[in-house]
Amino acid sequence: MRTTSLREYSVCFSKSTLLLSLRMLLLVPAGLPVGSQGDSQSDNRVMDNITARQGDTVLLRCAQGDVVTHTAWLNRSSILYAGEDKWSVDPRVSLVSLNQEEFTIKIENVDMTDEGQYVCAVQTSSRPRTTSVHLLVQVPPKIINLSRDSVVNEGSNLTLMCQASGKPEPTITWKLISSSVDLGSEDEYLEIPSISRQRAGTYECTAVNDIDTDVRTVDITVNYAPMVSEGRDVGVTPSQRGALECEADAVPEADFEWYKDDRRIFSDFDGIEILNTGSLSKLTFFNVSDGDYGNYTCVAINKLGSSNTSFLLYVVIESTSSTLLQGPRAVQDGSGGPIGAHSHTCLLFIAILPFLLRF
Ligand SMILES: *[C@@H]1O[C@H](CO)[C@@H](O)[C@H](O)[C@H]1NC(C)=O
Ligand SMILES: *[C@@H]1O[C@H](CO)[C@@H](O)[C@H](O)[C@H]1NC(C)=O
Ligand SMILES: *[C@@H]1O[C@H](CO)[C@@H](O)[C@H](O)[C@H]1NC(C)=O
Ligand SMILES: *[C@@H]1O[C@H](CO)[C@@H](O)[C@H](O)[C@H]1NC(C)=O
Ligand SMILES: *[C@@H]1O[C@H](CO)[C@@H](O)[C@H](O)[C@H]1NC(C)=O
Ligand SMILES: *[C@@H]1O[C@H](CO)[C@@H](O)[C@H](O)[C@H]1NC(C)=O
Ligand SMILES: *[C@@H]1O[C@H](CO)[C@@H](O)[C@H](O)[C@H]1NC(C)=O
Repeated sequence: MRTTSLREYSVCFSKSTLLLSLRMLLLVPAGLPVGSQGDSQSDNRVMDNITARQGDTVLLRCAQGDVVTHTAWLNRSSILYAGEDKWSVDPRVSLVSLNQEEFTIKIENVDMTDEGQYVCAVQTSSRPRTTSVHLLVQVPPKIINLSRDSVVNEGSNLTLMCQASGKPEPTITWKLISSSVDLGSEDEYLEIPSISRQRAGTYECTAVNDIDTDVRTVDITVNYAPMVSEGRDVGVTPSQRGALECEADAVPEADFEWYKDDRRIFSDFDGIEILNTGSLSKLTFFNVSDGDYGNYTCVAINKLGSSNTSFLLYVVIESTSSTLLQGPRAVQDGSGGPIGAHSHTCLLFIAILPFLLRF
């Protein structure tokens, strides 16, 4: 009878190691002739899969019944418990109950390596029986490898990477947060060919599986050469305060240089101040004198290039009409040169000319 049972187990698992384990377990001397009768008397059941999450405690329950002579729980080919004797050296494995009804063991803090088939082998007075159960271990997604924050020049090809672990295998999605546009890439790699400044910002990688979600971000800075806004001419009454403003869009932020005609100008303590705040440079005249009028050029520079614009500081004579003070938008100076003191009255005429022409 016993030899028949052994035969059954070996057929069932086709594993010599398992057979050996069971021979030892059932205290049967190896090498005994194996009978051919009673093959139909065994009973092999498959229980529903057990799905657990990493870290969970799992109970493996096996019905007993009849008069059980030997019973064991096995993980693949190794015995975890033979009756109430613990064979496993794993401290996470322990006996919950062993009685007439059931033989239950538990595995604490399950991990991916515990996944697989567990078998309960029971020998009763009548016939052998096995019950197998497949343990599936799910693992929440975790982003394990992500591109670093980086700075690139506009026009370069950029590839971002986001690798995640987890079970089932997580799906990856990419989003550019500032534009809240879903980039449609469902891949570990996000390719951004010839990156534009609009594609700068914070990229969000999301890894999702049935269990959970993991999100991480990458900051991408796109450098580009300055672009200055077109200069706005400014009219100022002599001895008044006046200012020219130059705005440059640039990454990294631009450095500014100011020129009057071809001569570089700097802040000084008697009358001129150049103040740079981020993208804006402001040239202030505290007390505009005749010599200050003329053509100014603002040059914005960063490591990728430069850009410039020119302005006219022109004379406005205080008058009773407040509309006159706003001055015309652009003044044409025929000579193209600096507007000196001698042209003072001429400029005044030019300044009021558009108003005269309306009538
Ligand atoms: C149990 O899990 C295994 C492995 O994933 C699978 O092949 C089998 O179909 C599952 N069985 C049931 C009953 O869900
Ligand atoms: C089951 O066997 C596998 C492979 O030998 C091992 O990695 C895992 O720790 C075992 N799990 C338990 C609960 O014994
Ligand atoms: C992350 O990805 C890089 C590039 O593919 C690779 O060299 C590195 O080994 C990865 N690191 C981990 C922890 O997977
Ligand atoms: C970007 O990729 C395109 C297409 O693969 C290639 O033709 C181009 O030379 C690359 N540009 C840079 C700056 O590497
Ligand atoms: C501006 O300069 C003129 C001539 O140098 C001077 O007469 C005037 O007092 C100054 N005005 C102010 C407000 O400093
Ligand atoms: C201003 O820009 C023009 C072309 O955009 C360039 O030719 C010129 O040299 C620049 N001027 C300065 C002072 O940088
Ligand atoms: C001002 O100077 C710039 C650069 O020298 C020149 O391109 C522009 O034509 C000048 N503007 C006027 C109105 O003279």
